[in-house]
Amino acid sequence: MNVLVVGGAGYIGSHTAKALHRAGFTPVVFDNLVYGHRWAVRWGPFVEADLADKAAILEALRRYRIEAVIHFAAYAYVGESMQNPAKYFRNNVAHMLNLLEAMVEVGVQPIVFSSSCATYGIPHAVPIREDFPQAPINPYGETKLMGERMLKWFGVGHGLRWVALRYFNASGADPEGELGEVHDPETHLIPLVIDAALGRRPPVRIFGTDYPTPDGTAIRDYIHVDDLASAHVRALQYLLEGGEPVALNLGTGQGTSVREVIRAVERVALRPVPAEEAPRRPGDPPVLVADPSLAKKVLGWEARYQEIVDIVRTAWNFAIRHSRVSSA
Ligand code: UFG
Repeated sequence: MNVLVVGGAGYIGSHTAKALHRAGFTPVVFDNLVYGHRWAVRWGPFVEADLADKAAILEALRRYRIEAVIHFAAYAYVGESMQNPAKYFRNNVAHMLNLLEAMVEVGVQPIVFSSSCATYGIPHAVPIREDFPQAPINPYGETKLMGERMLKWFGVGHGLRWVALRYFNASGADPEGELGEVHDPETHLIPLVIDAALGRRPPVRIFGTDYPTPDGTAIRDYIHVDDLASAHVRALQYLLEGGEPVALNLGTGQGTSVREVIRAVERVALRPVPAEEAPRRPGDPPVLVADPSLAKKVLGWEARYQEIVDIVRTAWNFAIRHSRVSSA
């Protein structure tokens, strides 16, 4: 079965394309390569095109007789979304509308959508359940919430069948070393800490040491990208088996602080990581941890990587092989 993987040349999309191939599907990657990488497309046909081009989406759906869609393509820099909200609403919302309309036109119903814990904003409690209020604190999170809402109403109006997966902090790399995290610019903690350990970048800055957490630094739920990939395959199978539309958290259920991430890198790298304390980064919630029990109940899915040191080890192995460093 051919599955259109929109944004399949990116970090999570490429790992999912590999997992789909392993599960017997043919991933047809649709990506404009603005942030994706041609080298990361290896498990099926590639369509280099942009979601702004609805005719190109229709052509891909028809030509490859697509039966389901997994939609990753989006801009995902929270800080940039504050500076340039139009860029985010246009790409993440308006262009997603082209995809949904094209699916309706061709009669493709199942879609798995990349949503985010950023749709919750600052949660009133942790761990976060799917029925908590969604109140984003930045345009990026707002666009992901609008994506979920569009799916809901396309479901009601056109019979679209969807699963929205709300990722917590995607991290790690393909344990076979073929894929990994290469963002340009890189803003994510784990690759920055690894590059600081390798001397490829300046000391890592710890954004905020006065949070109401045990060591004063912010806590996140780091979920391995391979676990995210397997959840997408499960979500697709669930829809193909006739599953009802649903939004699910994808996390481990465990929180890890910035200092704990640095310590995990030190354990894997066998060397100290140069780090310096810095003020809080605006818009960062103090603690984000998932309650992943609904995903277990609905999909039978659970994160296999539970230890931060195991996640970091896969990212480290990829980083030392992949020597190119993007701009900071
Ligand atoms: N951090 C640092 N120093 C850095 C980079 C990050 O201390 O140089 C801290 C951040 O303040 C945060 C934690 O490390 O507390 C993780 O930061 P990341 O930038 O790696 O990830 P975020 O939690 O900010 O972002 C992730 C996703 C976004 C999503 C967001 C939801 O990457 O797409 O979660 O809050 F919107």
